[in-house]
Amino acid sequence: MPGFSIRGLGSAVPDKVVTNDDLAARLDTSDSWITERTGIKQRHMGGTTSELAVAAGRMALDNAGVPAQDVDLLVLATTTPDEIVPGTSATVQNALGVGGGAFDVNAACSGFVYGLVVAHGLALAGTRRILLVGSETLTRITDLDDRTLAVIVGDGAGAVLLEATDGPGDLISYDLGADGSLRHLLHCPHGGVLYMDGKEVFRKAVRVVVDSSRAALERAGLTPGDVDLFVPHQANARIISAAAERLGIPPERCVVTIDRYGNTSSASIPLALADAKSSGQLTPGTVVLLSGFGGGMTWASAVLSWKL
Ligand code: UT7
Repeated sequence: MPGFSIRGLGSAVPDKVVTNDDLAARLDTSDSWITERTGIKQRHMGGTTSELAVAAGRMALDNAGVPAQDVDLLVLATTTPDEIVPGTSATVQNALGVGGGAFDVNAACSGFVYGLVVAHGLALAGTRRILLVGSETLTRITDLDDRTLAVIVGDGAGAVLLEATDGPGDLISYDLGADGSLRHLLHCPHGGVLYMDGKEVFRKAVRVVVDSSRAALERAGLTPGDVDLFVPHQANARIISAAAERLGIPPERCVVTIDRYGNTSSASIPLALADAKSSGQLTPGTVVLLSGFGGGMTWASAVLSWKL
């Protein structure tokens, strides 16, 4: 079906790197606990959501060779906006000089895949070029003295420049879901800090990634065996390996970046796509399965026929 094609990729992380040993120097934790329980070795911290989004967005525009004024729409997936009002997309639109409209999408860690599906619909409705960015500064809403969450979160952004196609687009199928009765498991009140029932989220995450991935693949007429590259939300390396194992996707077909970035919520999937592209894992013709999950709970999977 027509839709969009991804023409450019970008990513950005703050300069400041915080290692597990840095955290262990001031919290009751250790490199071995964090590595074994999460797969994280380091994370980047700093900046604002708009600064990171501008840097990633600019890189995606340059990568596509498209001037900002030729973009018709900016969609920013974030759960850590700079302010409650206005949307952070307004700051990013202004800084980049994007010609068209701008709005935020908040579906927590599923936000980038939700944004991709929204962009697909808008491309079908006539929007020509869309800059989709996932940008987060989770460390700003985390109690960094609380070891349970301080060791997991990281800051960063990833972006894709999408262009509408007349022929087949990159998005083959998708699955979106939400269960708001579970919203207490992962939330942050106004002016407060992030709370997560890690164990419960972990259990549910594995199930929804597997079920949602299967649903999206089924709609595409594909099976997990057809997936060349699995790019899941990077929340915990054990969630990724458990879900991949249940799906029957071997480790060499999974993109894992959590060791370097930690959990960057809606930025994790586009950051992982940018990394996979620069490491040569993503080549034209690759069948890509994306799967995000997080607060809400929300989940979202998409199957792409990669062309860039
Ligand atoms: O992106 C959105 C979705 N988020 C997720 O998917 C995250 C899902 N959850 C998780 O990734 C994991 O639940 C965590 C990484 C958050 C926690 O791992 P866990 O294996 O579920 O640990 P736990 O909370 O059951 O804690 C096990 C033990 C406890 O000690 P006791 O009671 O066994 O003595 C904790 O107090 O580990 C202790 N602990 C720590 N120890 C050292 C908890 N955090 C730490 C820590 N360092 N940072």
